[in-house]
This record gives sequence, C-alpha cells and structure tokens, in this order.
Amino acid sequence: MFRINENYLKLPGSYLFSTVGKKSKAYMDAHPDKKVIKLGIGDVTLPLSPTIIAAIHKATDEMAHKETFKGYAPDLGYEFLRSAISKEYAGRGAEIAIDEIFISDGAKSDSGNIGDIFADDTKIAVCDPVYPVYVDANAMSGRTGDYNPETQRWSSVIYMPCVSENGFAPEIPDEVPDVIYLCFPNNPTGSTITKSELQKWVDYANDNKAVIVYDAAYEAYISEDDVPHSIYECDGALTCAIEMRSFSKNAGFTGTRLGFTVVPKALKAGDVSVNSLWARRHGTKFNGAPYIIQRAGEAVYSPEGQKEISAMVGYYMNNAKIIREGLESAGYTVSGGVNAPYIWLKTPGSMTSWEFFDYLLENANIIGTPGSGFGPSGEGYFRLTAFGTYESTVEAMERIKKL
Ligand code: MLT
Repeated sequence: MFRINENYLKLPGSYLFSTVGKKSKAYMDAHPDKKVIKLGIGDVTLPLSPTIIAAIHKATDEMAHKETFKGYAPDLGYEFLRSAISKEYAGRGAEIAIDEIFISDGAKSDSGNIGDIFADDTKIAVCDPVYPVYVDANAMSGRTGDYNPETQRWSSVIYMPCVSENGFAPEIPDEVPDVIYLCFPNNPTGSTITKSELQKWVDYANDNKAVIVYDAAYEAYISEDDVPHSIYECDGALTCAIEMRSFSKNAGFTGTRLGFTVVPKALKAGDVSVNSLWARRHGTKFNGAPYIIQRAGEAVYSPEGQKEISAMVGYYMNNAKIIREGLESAGYTVSGGVNAPYIWLKTPGSMTSWEFFDYLLENANIIGTPGSGFGPSGEGYFRLTAFGTYESTVEAMERIKKL
C-alpha cells in the first residue's frame, strides 16, 4: 500500500496567495459589477521591455532553423547568461565564477528546493513575518516540528520577529540555527538593512558554521546608498551564503520564469562542497530554463536592457511613493516602499489582518495581502504592492482616502 508524505498533512490551510486568490475570486464572482483593484500578490503589470522582446523574437527564430535550433539547455544554464551575471557581480566587487551560478525558473522554486541539500534535522531560522515558501517547503520535508494553530508557529523553527520596535529587522536569535533565511529588501515588510548590519549576520554565520540563504529578489528596488544589493558585498560571505535572484520583479519575468542561485565553491560542510551538491540536485531534478528565456535574461544585462528595466523599476517605485503618501495622508502608519515595491501598513484600530482584508475588499474593492499570512508577527499588518498600474494605484489611494 502506498503511503504519503505525512508532513503535508501538518501544513495549515493552503498557500497564502492561493487563499487570497480564492477569496478574491469569490468576491468578484458575487459582484461582477465592481471594479476590483489587485494590489495583493506581487505580480508585475508592465509588459516586457523592447530589448527583451527583441531577444525573445530572435531566439524564437533560431528555434525555427535546423542550424540554430536548440534542444535541452545545459542543466546548470547557458554560459552566455551565467557570464553576464558573473560580470554584474564583478561590477559590485563580488568575484562570482560562472560555475557558481545556477540558472533556474525562478527564486520561488530555488528557495523552496534548496532544503533538499541540508540534513533532515536542520534547524532553520526565519524572519517573522516571512515569505511563506521558506517555512512551508521545510515543513514539507519534516524539519519544522509540529504546527500550533494557536500561536501559528512550528515547534522546531526559530522565529526572528521583525516588528516596528526593531525597525522590521531581525535580531540574532538566542538559539543558534543551522540555516538562516534572510530576504532583503524584505518581502513582505519592505524593510532593508545596511551593509554593516548584514556583515554582522555574515560574521555570525561564519562563527557558528551556519549557512545564510539570502533572497535578493528585490535588489533592483534599492534606492539608498548603504543598502547592499548582494550578500557577497560583505567580507566572508563566500564561505557562508547562498544567494537567490529573480528576473521576475526587476525585469517583469513573472510569466516567463527565470532566476538563479549562487552557491560559492568556498561554501563547505566539512570537506563537502555545497556547490557540488546543488549541481547534483539541479542536474537531476531540473532540465534547464528555456533557451529563449535565457536569451531574454541575457538581454536584461545589455546597456539598453539595463536602461529599460531601470525605467520599469522607477515606474513601480513611483507607485510605491503614491501608496506610501496616500496611506499616510489617510492616517495610516506605513513602512517600506523606499527600497522595495512593498508597503507595509498597520491595520486601523484593533482590526486583524484578515478583517482588514475583507473590509478593504468590500468597501474599497481593493485586494491586498493580510500580514498574518506571512507569520504571527504580521498580525495587525497588511501588505500592498506597487506592481499595479499607475492608474489603478492612484484610484486605489483615492478610494482608501474616502473610506
Ligand atoms: C509575493 O507577492 O510575495 C510574491 O509575488 C510571491 C512570489 O514571488 O512568489
């Protein structure tokens, strides 16, 4: 008789954005006359930029001819893309070799899959609130202990509360973790830390033989000078950090799918190279991102591509400003939205995050994401994304101001 992975049965409810999607659809089906504005999941609304589209067309044409047709992509990624990424790191003072870069279909998959190479009894530490993939994926592998619906915490996870008192930045935990998940600029709070603060985490990880899984999916949104774009800007990060990056938010690839993970060769568990383990895992379970999309990724690094994507980021950051200022003038307490496309607001009065979700949907026809969906310390908070259109963002703020 077959048996299932019972760890899945311990998972509470459905994936956060599936729940938001289902609730929103139920409302829209029941009220087809309402113009609902979606500022929930961080999905982009601008089309791919001209240089990227041109690269996709060109690569598509190559696929139409015997001489230039491509079959399976190299499982770790095409050299042209890995080399463009390596050069970008060099521009930030980080020496990342081509064979330390693994091309994938996005940071979500990589951050969910990275746990495959760690021991079953690995103790993880996460920010609270946190992007739910890190915790759920570890729960699926049975490393998080038991879930307590009352505290909304897993018994074996080390939570690092990120609350207004600490500027939504994690503090070194009392118990030493094996794997530390950090995401900066942060999803969901939009907070960041300075390079010297990140350096403290790198030193701590090296001192304690822990590894940092660093999600830098939102680095393109950094506007302040002393905020690091990569953990490899810190000394010693090559021996303790894995970094994930995405093309979704900086270049609009949410529908085309492309990302990468850096696993430095200097990162070792005893004398075992973590880079080789990830190469083994990636080569076995992943057949390479599509050639056409990797060419599109390469175009992102061209001078024209860089100009276009920075205009795209500027467009979304203008939305972020509109949301921040709009909410502040409506009397909300707001953070984020300066180095990140997410705005984190305190729900009014004693409303819970889900109560505010319903309130905003029913009274302003706006969809956002309840903070408690990201973890217990997110209760009483709410996340809005700057990835809507300019017009819908302006309208959303007008509706909120009228509430
Ligand atoms: C989010 O809204 O948190 C993200 O868009 C989800 C994701 O990138 O998977």
